[in-house]
Amino acid sequence: MPKTRIILDTDPGADDALAILLMLASPEIQLEAITTVHGNVTIDKTTRNALALLEFLDAKNIPAAQGCSLPLVKPPHQPKGEMVHGSSGMGRANLPEPTLKPIETHAVDHLIERFLAEPKELTLFAIGPLTNVALAIRKEPKFAQAVKELVIMGGAIRSGGNVTPLAEFNISEDPHAAHIVFNSGIPITLIPLDATYKCLLTSADIERLNKIDSPIARFVRDVTADYMAFYLKYEGFAGCALHDPLTAATVIAPELLSIEQHYVNVDISGGVSTGKTYADFMKAAKKPANMKVALDVKGREFVDMFLRRVTTFAKQHT
Ligand code: BDR
Ligand code: CA
Repeated sequence: MPKTRIILDTDPGADDALAILLMLASPEIQLEAITTVHGNVTIDKTTRNALALLEFLDAKNIPAAQGCSLPLVKPPHQPKGEMVHGSSGMGRANLPEPTLKPIETHAVDHLIERFLAEPKELTLFAIGPLTNVALAIRKEPKFAQAVKELVIMGGAIRSGGNVTPLAEFNISEDPHAAHIVFNSGIPITLIPLDATYKCLLTSADIERLNKIDSPIARFVRDVTADYMAFYLKYEGFAGCALHDPLTAATVIAPELLSIEQHYVNVDISGGVSTGKTYADFMKAAKKPANMKVALDVKGREFVDMFLRRVTTFAKQHT
């Protein structure tokens, strides 16, 4: 089976870090580049975290390009992300200052260069606000056609929001970018809160993982510590959702996802539902489906798979 070649646009972020870890721990995936975006924390921190992670996870060969520092139109939600992911974005994990540097090319240009160099060969994963992806679409008219597939963690279709009563963080942080991306014609798979909230990593899972004496197991414990404290305080359970890692299921365990095809869009009207993603289940808009959406998942099976893969990877990197 050929590997799925991926470029990852990300705003690390505790669960972004776990997504990178899972991708590196998955033989079906070849992670070829990281582009950073503002989101959970500021762009200087998301870039620093991405570089520190690549170094820590023994993946220094993967280039990282720094991207946009602000949403296209609206002001950022800060400090909302810091409440969830800690002030550095990496919870209580203290990764050493990276020696790696970002490449000189801006993330938007790197995306354009990489996808145009090999049209329809690479899959783009976007697990932060969609600012870089939207600008690549606007800057280079051939970009959208060159992307084989775009997998997005974002949105809340039937589920409520996690940053406003209606909207999910990544989409709400830059709804105008999401609007450009959703209407670009790129083949999209959306992984919204409807599915990700069923993938709960518990404190018992963290304890079990830490039975092995490994820096990676300790990192998973530390990076999720603030994230779990937030969930306990605001949502009443001792664990956290594996939002961003679940995107990898589209490659490593698609059978766990319940996928439907729908016309999906995002509200950018400026009212209370700005950033809300909605699916036209009843085909009232009479528009063709523009994406696949994961509306359900076998959550525990995914979390167990995540733990198995991270355990194997941790044992190989002691
Ligand atoms: C998304 O928002 C961020 O806080 C997470 O990293 C994830 O990408 C979940 O709503
Ligand atoms: Ca993220």
